[in-house]
Amino acid sequence: MTGKVDFTGVQSTMLVTLYLRALDSREQDSILGDHAAAEAVGRIDYDWAKLAQPGMASNRFLVALRAKQFDDWAADFLRRNPDATVLQLGCGLDSRAFRLDLPSGVRWFDVDLPDVIELRRELYPESEGYRTIGASVTDPAWLAEIPADQPVLIIAEGLLMYLPTSEVEALLRRLTDHFRTGELIFDGVALWVVRMTQWCARRLPKRIYDYPGYLTATQEGRDVERWNPKFRFLAAVPIFSLHAKVPNPTFRALYRAANRWRAVRYWLRVFRAEF
Ligand SMILES: C[S@@+](CC[C@H](N)C(=O)[O-])C[C@H]1O[C@@H](n2cnc3c(N)ncnc32)[C@H](O)[C@@H]1O
Repeated sequence: MTGKVDFTGVQSTMLVTLYLRALDSREQDSILGDHAAAEAVGRIDYDWAKLAQPGMASNRFLVALRAKQFDDWAADFLRRNPDATVLQLGCGLDSRAFRLDLPSGVRWFDVDLPDVIELRRELYPESEGYRTIGASVTDPAWLAEIPADQPVLIIAEGLLMYLPTSEVEALLRRLTDHFRTGELIFDGVALWVVRMTQWCARRLPKRIYDYPGYLTATQEGRDVERWNPKFRFLAAVPIFSLHAKVPNPTFRALYRAANRWRAVRYWLRVFRAEF
């Protein structure tokens, strides 16, 4: 068992995604099959009852579908670049480095804020090709430690929306200055979702909504080219468009309906870009 965990602020959001992946992994037709998440939930001394509210569990499909899309695109990149460097930013307690079948030449770096990485190190061991870095992605210093001699896969799942757009731009500039070539996989939310979370963070009591509001929206895939003209937008996948993979028939039908309505379909999308 870990020491007592009581994160507040943006660090607490990764406990939510971990918990939801654990719920998904217990389904008979799990979308992601992230059993490491269920194991981690069992080992972390945290008041999980806070998350066991009606409504929360329904988000497990959203989180599992998003992670699966990241896994599929990451696996595709690593098939084409078996000696790649992977930088997973805002990794939380995600187990992607162990979930994917990594070619032996891959060097993987998981980055998150220092207290998250401290907890992560209690749960997942480092190894020859796998390291963790406890730092803010907005701090320019840590990138100097990362070898720049191979193509890079940059993974930012559930992260960029929490950063001001000026920080997103500065981060992407540092990355394309450091590496010669690579791909970026990230997810983005519509502007109305940014506004809604800001309203919730300001107006709702903490016992109902205790998370920071989002700061950056992704209105279209080409936003990444505006943030940094070295990127070329490649593809976008709305999470609701993956409705056929949802095992629960009620939610499958709801997601299918949500996918027909543009504003809702663009709630959450996964994007891929190259430089
Ligand atoms: C919604 S969670 C997603 C975690 C993980 N990617 C997942 O899908 O489970 C957001 C993560 O971003 C991290 N984060 C937010 N701002 C950060 C920053 N400036 N530097 C590093 N990590 C940050 C948080 O600590 C948290 O772990």
